[in-house]
Amino acid sequence: MLNYLGDKKDERMKMRNRYRKSTALRCDAGSRCLISVVIGSLMGCILLLNLYSAIRPADEIGQHIHLRTSHHLHFPELEEVEEENIQIPPPRKRSPRATKRRPKKTTTLIDEFLDEDSQIRHKFFPDQKTSIDPMITGNDSMFYYPGRVWLDTEGNPIQAHGGGVLFDERSETYYWYGEYKDGPTYHAHKKGAARVDIIGVGCYSSKDLWTWKNEGIVLTAEETDETHDLHKSNVLERPKVIYNSRTRKYVMWMHIDDVNYTKASVGVAISDYPTGPFDYLYSKRPHGCDSRDMTIFKDDDGTAYLIYSSEDNSELHVGSLSEDYLDVTNVARRILIGQHREAPALFKHQGTYYMVTSGCTGWAPNEALTHAAESIMGPWETMGNPCMGGNKMFRLATFFSQSTFVLPVPSYPNLFIFMADRWNPADLRDSRYLWLPLMVGGLVDEPLDYNFGFPLWSRVSIYWHRKWRLPQGWNSLK
Ligand SMILES: *[C@@H]1O[C@H](CO)[C@@H](O)[C@H](O)[C@H]1NC(C)=O
Ligand SMILES: *[C@@H]1O[C@H](CO)[C@@H](O)[C@H](O)[C@H]1NC(C)=O
Repeated sequence: MLNYLGDKKDERMKMRNRYRKSTALRCDAGSRCLISVVIGSLMGCILLLNLYSAIRPADEIGQHIHLRTSHHLHFPELEEVEEENIQIPPPRKRSPRATKRRPKKTTTLIDEFLDEDSQIRHKFFPDQKTSIDPMITGNDSMFYYPGRVWLDTEGNPIQAHGGGVLFDERSETYYWYGEYKDGPTYHAHKKGAARVDIIGVGCYSSKDLWTWKNEGIVLTAEETDETHDLHKSNVLERPKVIYNSRTRKYVMWMHIDDVNYTKASVGVAISDYPTGPFDYLYSKRPHGCDSRDMTIFKDDDGTAYLIYSSEDNSELHVGSLSEDYLDVTNVARRILIGQHREAPALFKHQGTYYMVTSGCTGWAPNEALTHAAESIMGPWETMGNPCMGGNKMFRLATFFSQSTFVLPVPSYPNLFIFMADRWNPADLRDSRYLWLPLMVGGLVDEPLDYNFGFPLWSRVSIYWHRKWRLPQGWNSLK
């Protein structure tokens, strides 16, 4: 096993050296760069496959799978497949004239979800009366209710959309950062998407991942200077913060854009404290490429990476950050080419990298997919839809939400929290949060075609729950 990994690593190093030129990813370099990267990844695939089949007899592969599954801890309560039986309401009565003008279309649950006047809107956006309130510690204490209004300790709805969570080891505190969208939703022009002016990045702190205290807006919009990236008329999305132990700085990366999404850049901000204030440094197009939905990921060895949708959202790019996390290096790869994925949320489990992404349908929900890789630089393989439970429409619409972050739960190596946004394009400030248990374990449903029926990856499952809580004792800090 060690030998096998060692050999593979050596091969990978050789490959890397041989194709060093292709790692400098430049979008303006055009198709030549693309082809060499594609050939590079193909060669990588073939090499890995050959090594896999040559070095490992079949029984060893079986053993390997056994090893992986035996590490799998079970959470029967969380893995219960909870059904959801939301019915599409009967069509409203229409005048015969209206029917003639526009024949009746069959509606789907997604149409109902997007219809502000739907009779079942409360199923997707339960009203304020059902809010999760951390200050009322009754029977509901510590329970997550995906989709309900979630209040902070002052009784206000949490404003941290498209967010991510940082665990700060120094203060043993979780910080949740996201888009503060507590302003009016409007359309800048006829063809423009629903938007809220930039207000800033909200930050909330918690020790238990349930009771969140508002730490204020830690990066604020620019009110007057129209040329500033953070001018309120622009776009700031998906802020994520990591800590750099070398420089002792908290570094925030975010998607920066103009109202028409043509700037397609990343922005960087920095602070001495997790609660800010963050100083905005600059924006750029990473590797010269357009960059929209993005995330950052800090690996065990302290190396951090930027992952972003590029080439008009048709592919993702993954590239390492400089040691101070304030810029990208020129080491980058194109991944999931032609797959049109966004909203990447990356995590690592027992040395394997996993990523959940969504399709690109604006504010409308769509099907999530999981991808896996042995090296963060790829090749990445698409595994399938991780959603379990609800009903078929729920699973095909990521429970009417879009991925934003995957948070590891301490003490339980195969348990994570899947964080997603249920966007409300009619009133974006009222978009809801879906936190659901994500588990890694077991075999993928369908053996993948090019590894001889033996999946290399474990299955990733996100279980639908109307109400759930983390297993007792998850928090070794307490
Ligand atoms: C809490 O649970 C108990 C027992 O199930 C029930 O009798 C009580 O009404 C519940 N309290 C609230 C506030 O829901
Ligand atoms: C955005 O697009 C609209 C319509 O095409 C145009 O009128 C407007 O000037 C554009 N704004 C910016 C900032 O590019």
